[in-house]
Amino acid sequence: MIIGVPKELKDHETRVGLVPAGVGELVSFGHTVLVETGAGQASFFDDEEYRNAGATIVPAAKELWAKAEMIVKVKEPIEPEYRFFRPGLVLFTYLHLAPLPDLTEELLQHQVTAVAYETVEGHGGGLPLLEPMSEVAGRLAVQVGAQYLERRYGGRGMLLGGVPGVPPARVLVLGGGIVGTNSAKMATGMGAVVTIADRSAARLRQIDDLFGGRVLTLAANPSTIAEAVAEADLLIGAVLIPGASAPKIVSTDMVRRMKRGAVIVDVAIDQGGCIETAHPTTHTHPSYVLHDVVHYCVTNMPAAVPRTSTLALTNVTFAYVRQLADHGFAEAVRRDAGLHAGVNTYQGALTYEAVAAAQKRPYRALSELL
Ligand SMILES: NC(=O)c1ccc[n+]([C@@H]2O[C@H](COP(=O)([O-])OP(=O)(O)OC[C@H]3O[C@@H](n4cnc5c(N)ncnc54)[C@H](O)[C@@H]3O)[C@@H](O)[C@H]2O)c1
Repeated sequence: MIIGVPKELKDHETRVGLVPAGVGELVSFGHTVLVETGAGQASFFDDEEYRNAGATIVPAAKELWAKAEMIVKVKEPIEPEYRFFRPGLVLFTYLHLAPLPDLTEELLQHQVTAVAYETVEGHGGGLPLLEPMSEVAGRLAVQVGAQYLERRYGGRGMLLGGVPGVPPARVLVLGGGIVGTNSAKMATGMGAVVTIADRSAARLRQIDDLFGGRVLTLAANPSTIAEAVAEADLLIGAVLIPGASAPKIVSTDMVRRMKRGAVIVDVAIDQGGCIETAHPTTHTHPSYVLHDVVHYCVTNMPAAVPRTSTLALTNVTFAYVRQLADHGFAEAVRRDAGLHAGVNTYQGALTYEAVAAAQKRPYRALSELL
């Protein structure tokens, strides 16, 4: 198969869909890989490494999209890329189509076979192509939070771990899923006093076992949250209700009662945020101060650490790239029900029910079309 890896166009996107090692493996199995000039640059993989791995470096996106049978990307295509769509082209990338009716329309009209990372299901359930980015964001939230607690970033001038004789910072993590547990690992490692609040008692039990008592667990309800928020030096928002906007479990009033110079990192901001005073920010302007509390609400946190994020992402996507390349689309989705679940558009039909419902469009089961 001819596989194309374009340079990402979306603002501030620094990751790339395939690393040179992946290219080498695909080439050794007889595939052809085209990589756009500079595609890996922001993740510190240069053209020379791709060339040495057997890729053909293509200077223009237009040529790459036209020649490739499958495009492997990171983020959803943006408008300048729509003109490259054509019937039968396989597109494997994050798509998050529900709020993107224009992109959906283009994919349907041009009969692109779009497989979305975020809806591919694992053999044991779960969404394996989302997990690594939650791991990155969860860990990064503490690194970023520690930095914003420094005086020069507007924080209350506290060292997360304190020093002998001076107490460490209190870190409150809302939501004990992938982001939350990864935040807790980093924060406990740095010596902070960490509490995880979750509404699921079963999850809190698992966390208690996982951390062997080194993390305090809290059953989340409005009164426990209000009390814990007022005591927190660093508040990390990491709740998720799959398929829905994040619930606003921290009100403006609770933020007003936080300590002066406390820091909020609302990781859940990509789903609307779980803190009422949080609004989306970018890597160019990542933070703002409201009610004397520093807010960091970057919607694509993993782009801050593209080298790690690209490697983490491609570690999990690559097996699917191989399946699609080795067997071709139809056979690959026949063999793997999880990959089958990842297909959002096929031959002009919308094959992912939740996206169809969100956009009030007709849904067709992929199995009827294959
Ligand atoms: N900003 C970014 O760059 C970035 C990157 C990765 C993930 N995220 C986001 O981080 C969020 C968390 O992702 P995840 O992978 O950890 O999800 P997850 O499903 O693994 O965990 C979410 C947790 O929230 C808990 N929860 C749900 N409602 C709650 C409530 N009302 N009170 C308390 N707890 C509640 C759930 O029980 C669950 O344990 C998501 O919104 C995800 O999109 C953001």
